[in-house]
Amino acid sequence: MNQTLELLNGRKSVRAYETKDVPQDVRDEIIKAALRAPTAGNMMLYSILEIKDQAIKEKLVETCDNQPMIAKAPFVLLFLADYQRWYDYYAIAGVEKMCTKKSVKMRTPEEGDLLLACCDALIAAQTAVVAAEAMGLGTCYIGDILENYEVHRELFDLPDYVLPITMVCFGYPTGQQASRPQPPRYDSEFIVFENKYKRLSEDEFARMYSYRINEIFKNVAFADGAENFGQHFYLKKFDADFTKEMNRSVRAALKNWTSK
Ligand SMILES: Cc1cc2nc3c(=O)[nH]c(=O)nc-3n(C[C@H](O)[C@H](O)[C@H](O)COP(=O)(O)O)c2cc1C
Repeated sequence: MNQTLELLNGRKSVRAYETKDVPQDVRDEIIKAALRAPTAGNMMLYSILEIKDQAIKEKLVETCDNQPMIAKAPFVLLFLADYQRWYDYYAIAGVEKMCTKKSVKMRTPEEGDLLLACCDALIAAQTAVVAAEAMGLGTCYIGDILENYEVHRELFDLPDYVLPITMVCFGYPTGQQASRPQPPRYDSEFIVFENKYKRLSEDEFARMYSYRINEIFKNVAFADGAENFGQHFYLKKFDADFTKEMNRSVRAALKNWTSK
């Protein structure tokens, strides 16, 4: 098989790393690849922070729903959706003066600008993931970086138009992680449609989740009060405390971004 396809099809998240460090030239290649990712209007609406300070990593363990792998990962990149850089440049370029002359109000970044910047940052992140995999590293996203916006804002000196959208841990996989089977995916018939969106029927849901229900959850006790897989998942993920914190945190970030 084509090597790239083999790599993409063989990828899985890696959450435990060898103590071996990631050499500087490997770090550089990962970042170089990320910076080559497609970017809206070639604007590069993102920034990348390499988290080197061990004390900051330890803090992130706490603020990202207690995930110790963050402190143990030898290489950690934080991807920031960033409109601040362009907005600062507009200020320097005298855009406000120009707007006054034209009798129009200078606008500030809005919701669409934020989502576009998130697209850029996430595509750069995934490109870094693929580059890392190609050099034998394992990776894991940390979506919980969306929590505790106020703490992260202070920790990283983030201005108004910068939002931490994702973080990735990189490191060489332990033997156990390398041999762990890949988690299954839902069949494409439930995910990929032609031309129009399709809502699934009860029967299709039963087929879609049958492997998880019959195999993965065969010996797993459902959460307190849950009688089936859907109820269990609702309690464990959708209505979990970490999800509530994520939504609170994102609301605070959005307010900050859109209130000017
Ligand atoms: C946006 C995003 C956020 C994620 N956040 C976390 C996380 O905080 N902690 C974690 O252990 N895995 C996280 N993951 C990894 C997923 O759990 C993982 O991709 C999924 O279970 C499928 O497994 P696989 O990547 O091994 O195929 C995240 C993945 C994505 C794409």
